Amino acid sequence: MKHFLKLLDLSSEEIFELLDIAADLKYKQKNGIPHRYLEGKSVALIFQKASTRTRTSFEVGTYQLGGYGAFLNVNDMQIARGEPVQDTIRVLSRYFDCLMIRTFDQSYVEDLAKYGSIPIINGLTDFCHPTQVIADLLTIREYKGSLEGLKMCYIGDGNNMANSLTVGALKTGMKMSLVCPDDYRPPKEILDFAYGYGDKFEICSDPLKGAVDADVLVTDVWTSMGQEEESQKRMIAFEGYQINDAILSVAKKDAMVQHCLPAHRGEEITAEVFEAHANEIFDEAENRLHAHKAIMVAVTNTYRK
Ligand code: CP
Ligand code: NVA
Repeated sequence: MKHFLKLLDLSSEEIFELLDIAADLKYKQKNGIPHRYLEGKSVALIFQKASTRTRTSFEVGTYQLGGYGAFLNVNDMQIARGEPVQDTIRVLSRYFDCLMIRTFDQSYVEDLAKYGSIPIINGLTDFCHPTQVIADLLTIREYKGSLEGLKMCYIGDGNNMANSLTVGALKTGMKMSLVCPDDYRPPKEILDFAYGYGDKFEICSDPLKGAVDADVLVTDVWTSMGQEEESQKRMIAFEGYQINDAILSVAKKDAMVQHCLPAHRGEEITAEVFEAHANEIFDEAENRLHAHKAIMVAVTNTYRK
């Protein structure tokens, strides 16, 4: 795997390989087994949006792998003063072995991969959040034993999380049910991909219908980073698109709940459901660390069993 830009680029085998590496690195970390696959390597970490989990798990993960993770404050860089992406990445390619970036446009991440000569990892764009979904799939597999045939139901905005979950779930043999208001469905590129999976994919605007018999319920914020000006409008559009007891009552009895965090209790999820499923949600957050380590060793081709 040369880059990690979006799950659409990865084969099912590559996704499963990442899950297996993440599970192995998690085992090694928990059991004190050295796994310094990034010894002597440096990873640049650029954030053009806020982050708690992604930033810290990449920093700590790089350290645990024996490498150096450099957080680059974009406001202190020449990027903020208009230095072109082509020049920035050609310079950083001379210093670093890998670059992770969180930004707005997917095209910026694709351009970094095009003009640079080091692996690029997408730490969230407006289009997708693929590192998160590797952690989600890892968590679901840990709880359920395998992914094949499980039904995932995502309720809420057809945003970056919905896009990556749809691709990740379908590519790993899960069924995907998307529940979004009509005006907030994922983009055509994602829907076209999903319709290719026939009856393994469904989309509707009724949460109680879409969640029937779900094994995994997932949601995300109604207002993503960069959409703050629309938040009032969104509060109205998403009313009712909430994971609550009524939704859980139509899902499978042992359904798990996932949320990438940060969560807004009383909006996309009730406080009661959040707390009842807190273990699953914080295991998911922990798995960001193991998933990110797997992605870094995969793209730098440094993993050895
Ligand atoms: N879920 C997630 O990406 O969290 P952060 O925004 O805190 O990185
Ligand atoms: N959809 C959210 C995810 C945050 C991790 C956002 O883009 O803000």
